[in-house]
Amino acid sequence: VHWIKVVVLGSGAVGKSALTVRYLTDRFIHDYDPTFEDIYEDEKKPIVVDDEQYALRIVDTAGQIEDIENSFQMRHIASADVVMYVFSLTESQTLHDLISLKDRIDGMSATPKPSVMVGNKSDLTHMRCVSQEEAMGVANNLNCSYFEMSVASSSRESVDTVFQSAVKLAVDS
Ligand code: GTP
Ligand code: MG
Repeated sequence: VHWIKVVVLGSGAVGKSALTVRYLTDRFIHDYDPTFEDIYEDEKKPIVVDDEQYALRIVDTAGQIEDIENSFQMRHIASADVVMYVFSLTESQTLHDLISLKDRIDGMSATPKPSVMVGNKSDLTHMRCVSQEEAMGVANNLNCSYFEMSVASSSRESVDTVFQSAVKLAVDS
C-alpha cells in the first residue's frame, strides 16, 4: 500500500477536524475543541486509483497559524502529497484567509502542491455569505478542485468523494 499525506489547512472553526473525523468514522462532532495538531493513519479505508491501493495519512492542523513560513506545520506542508484548504461558507473572511495562505504556501516551493478546496457548512443556509459562483471563481484562480458540502449533513459518499479526489489528484500529478 502507498501512503498519501493530506494536510488539512484553513482558519479556525471552519470544520477541518469535523471533516477529518466524519471521513474516518462517519460521526459528526458538534462540539468545538480547537486543534493543536492531530495525525491519523488510516489503513482501514484504502482508496483505489488505477488499480493501486492508497492509504491516507491525514494531518489535521490548528486554524490559528500566525506565521506559516516559520511554523512547525511547514514541515508537514513541505512533505504533503496534497493540501486540503477548508473554509466556511458562513464567513467570508475564512475564504480570504485561504487565498493568502495558499499564496504563501505556493511561494515556498518550486511547484505548487496539488490542492483541493472545500466550502463547508452549506447546511447553515440562513448564515451563508459566500455564493457558489464566488467560491468556484476563487478555486479556479487558485488552481484547486472545489467541493461544497456540509460535514454535518452531507452524505457519506460526498465526504468520501472529497478525499478520493484529493488522492487522485496527488497520484495524477
Ligand atoms: P480549529 O481546530 O480551531 O482550527 O477548528 P476546525 O477547523 O477544526 O473546526 P471544527 O472541526 O472543530 O469545527 C468547528 C465547529 O463547527 C464545531 O462546533 C463543529 O461542530 C462545527 N461544524 C463543522 N462543520 C459543520 C457543518 O458542516 N455544519 C455545521 N452546522 N457546523 C459545523
Ligand atoms: Mg480542528
